[in-house]
Amino acid sequence: MSLFGKNLQQQIRDMRAQRTQARGRAGAGYAVLILGGGGREYAIAWRLARDASVDRIEITPGTGGMGLFAHTLDFAPTDLGRLQQHVAAAQVDLAIVGPDELIARGLADDLRRTGIATVGASREASRLEWSKSFAKEVMDAAGVPTASWKAYPSAAAAAEALPDRPVVVKADGLAAGKGVVVARSRKEALDALDLAVVREGKVVLEEVLEGPEASLLALVDGETVVPLPPATDHKRVGDGDTGPNTGGMGCVTPTKVLPDDEAADVARVVLEPIAREMVKRGTPYRGVLYAGLMRTKAGFKVIEYNARFGDPEAEVVLPRVGGDFGKLMHALGSGRLAEHVAANPVRFEPRAYVSVAVCAAGYPGAYEKGKRIEGLDSLPEGVYAFHAGTINAPNGGVLTSGGRVLHIVGGGDTVKDARERAYAGAKAVRFEGAFFRSDIALREV
Ligand code: AMP
Ligand code: GLY
Repeated sequence: MSLFGKNLQQQIRDMRAQRTQARGRAGAGYAVLILGGGGREYAIAWRLARDASVDRIEITPGTGGMGLFAHTLDFAPTDLGRLQQHVAAAQVDLAIVGPDELIARGLADDLRRTGIATVGASREASRLEWSKSFAKEVMDAAGVPTASWKAYPSAAAAAEALPDRPVVVKADGLAAGKGVVVARSRKEALDALDLAVVREGKVVLEEVLEGPEASLLALVDGETVVPLPPATDHKRVGDGDTGPNTGGMGCVTPTKVLPDDEAADVARVVLEPIAREMVKRGTPYRGVLYAGLMRTKAGFKVIEYNARFGDPEAEVVLPRVGGDFGKLMHALGSGRLAEHVAANPVRFEPRAYVSVAVCAAGYPGAYEKGKRIEGLDSLPEGVYAFHAGTINAPNGGVLTSGGRVLHIVGGGDTVKDARERAYAGAKAVRFEGAFFRSDIALREV
């Protein structure tokens, strides 16, 4: 499957080859194009803006407040016609595809085929995220520890096979975090099987694992796996891990659940075998691979894979990635990761970061948009506002446009310092209906 079409890919390659030398700017830094418009993409752009190797950052659609350090393009990343015109005519040395939907559509494949160094898994490799049953099957083949499981062709078939113990019900496809229910009773399991996202297709039933969770993200290029600093996300909407699942209400790194100095060992168990298995299957992985882990009594087990940077993991992990991140991303995007890290090992900065998602009333359910955000210009020192669901107001200022509006990130020498800063920032920003969890990273201090 190809979104751009074979002829167009060749045309874009030709047009890129014919651009004037001036646009090639030999010796100057990279021009980077980021696709996506949330807190994750804001964090990627913010991190790249700190690199000597990066000259220009363009983003589509981006979020509010990015004009300070990035150029927001005036078309959506799904507007393929405009995107094709843009990459044919503009200087783009590196493309980074952020969101799961764009990766699952195969946008990274298409950009790569035009000759642009691209960070983003192929559609085929990103099946690790968009098909739970595929991910489980690959884990079993690769010998990666995970919950025992079985796939069913339909919710009805799963209902008939329901065991007499707690079970995790998972919709097979992409469901934006809404397709997973940990059912403690038979009734909860039947209700979960009746949810719209679950009812439609294949269903996976899984053993319930117990233990604290951590996120281990890595750069993967074929068999090369380079772990990034581990983090802990807080997925439930309410304090004390109550209420429905969200995209993530806050994050912390480093984390006691998976300390920095264990990242490489754990990656050897949960990521490297997957990278080798994908190469063996002829669908090598090139991009960011994220393992959602649970530390059980029997060791770390994989809950899920995501084929991208986590959100809000990126907001705390990327500030800790030492060295030139632009060069690192370019090496990954152009299939040179192994040689690049051999010469420039990735250093974890010895800093702590905590993010707190400031959300719109109603999230993760229905919420209102268009509320004016105050206080962004008076954030305390060491506090950053990573915009997730915001737009620039036509007459100045910034308005809310999403459920998770801002990820307020605090940095410090310890998690305690970082947490205090993040909360000072979260309290300093205001909009009608704003709320946030008050216990992010509390277990870590
Ligand atoms: P997922 O979308 O697969 O990450 O699942 C969302 C959340 O559901 C995870 O972060 C876990 O908290 C929980 N979960 C998923 N699978 C399991 C499992 N096998 N055992 C216990 N909890 C799970
Ligand atoms: N932080 C959870 C996710 O990115 O899916």
